[in-house]
Amino acid sequence: MSVPAKTVLPGGTIGVLGGGQLGRMLAQAATRLGYRVHIFEPQANSPAGAVAHLEVNAAYEDLVALSAFARGCDVVTYEFENVPAAPLRAIEGLTQLHPSWQVLETCQNRSREKNWLKQNGFPHARFAEVAAGGDVAAGIREVGLPCVVKTADFGYDGKGQVKVREEVDIAVAQKAFAGQACVIEQWIDFACEVSVVMARSAKAAIRVFPLVENIHTNHILDFSIAPARVAPETATAAEKMARLIAEKIGLVGVMGVEMFVTREGAVLVNELAPRTHNSGHYTIDACATSQFEQQVRAICGLPLGDPRLLSPVVMVNLLGDAWASGEPRWDGLLAEPAVRLHLYGKSEPRPGRKMGHFTVTARDADMALGFAQKIKARL
Ligand SMILES: Nc1ncnc2c1ncn2[C@@H]1O[C@H](COP(=O)(O)OP(=O)(O)OP(=O)(O)O)[C@@H](O)[C@H]1O
Ligand SMILES: [Mg+2]
Repeated sequence: MSVPAKTVLPGGTIGVLGGGQLGRMLAQAATRLGYRVHIFEPQANSPAGAVAHLEVNAAYEDLVALSAFARGCDVVTYEFENVPAAPLRAIEGLTQLHPSWQVLETCQNRSREKNWLKQNGFPHARFAEVAAGGDVAAGIREVGLPCVVKTADFGYDGKGQVKVREEVDIAVAQKAFAGQACVIEQWIDFACEVSVVMARSAKAAIRVFPLVENIHTNHILDFSIAPARVAPETATAAEKMARLIAEKIGLVGVMGVEMFVTREGAVLVNELAPRTHNSGHYTIDACATSQFEQQVRAICGLPLGDPRLLSPVVMVNLLGDAWASGEPRWDGLLAEPAVRLHLYGKSEPRPGRKMGHFTVTARDADMALGFAQKIKARL
């Protein structure tokens, strides 16, 4: 049985499962509001643990450690989608857990997520499911070419994905996914990608951040642009869909909804993330309330903040690749008044690893993007 929602006022303790950058920025927002923050994370010296009151290092499946952690918190949330849902279910009677373990369970597995979208009538790319040990080639033929094969579990930043363009790629995909449960999706020749980050409180209030446009490179988010450069009807449709998703799934907390905008202007849902989202980092520097403060407000039962955009903005992810020849030259970037730098305190800059981000504000989105690209190239 879950613990009934009760307001957690500043001074209370927020527990976060996962110690990555999303937990770090959540801890920063929460401590600013006077909360205590405890982090539960398998690996020592996490980015979030460095800015929290307490860091517990144990496996998520360690129910003794997890229960003790839960008892020490007024409310618990998660910042990492691959926290297993079963241990969360086991602790739900010990503290408030937002969003619920059921929401996490639906979103963390692509098959369940896609079926949820289908059953609830949200537009999405055509897909087929293949069980572990099943016939990948048959799934590909069912969906048709081009398509993309994705592992059902544990995908992030495009890991565990193979695009299948023509007949000869089928055997390659079949080999790559042998023995794994996967989802095969029709390849969408999209006009652009957008996302909506929204919050829903325990009192069912919903606030939606402005639609953001996302440019991925090698399947990893590269640039996020707000406001998204799409027709107003598209933005309205995306926002409406996001609100409905939050209501139907019973969200309490923050959720990111990734979407494709087709060349005909239709909006298809790609993925749901029941937490703050990389594409929402722009809100820290450009909105009246950040997605992290909004997450605190939503899970603590406080009034939600104003999500209004204060300035057009572009966010750029800083991946470990930028450290190839040592620490990047931050001086040029820091000398720019319209630029703000966020680093996550990770010591090992591996290629593709998210090390930080920066934002650029400007009079309009195109100007901000042009400037952001220049600054990125200079690093
Ligand atoms: N069906 C598709 N059609 C076209 N492009 C796709 C499709 N699926 C994925 N992509 C591209 O690959 C990117 C990553 O895919 P997806 O969001 O499914 O993966 P992920 O590993 O969960 O990534 P992340 O953790 O960054 O969200 C998408 O944002 C999009 O650019
Ligand atoms: Mg994605």
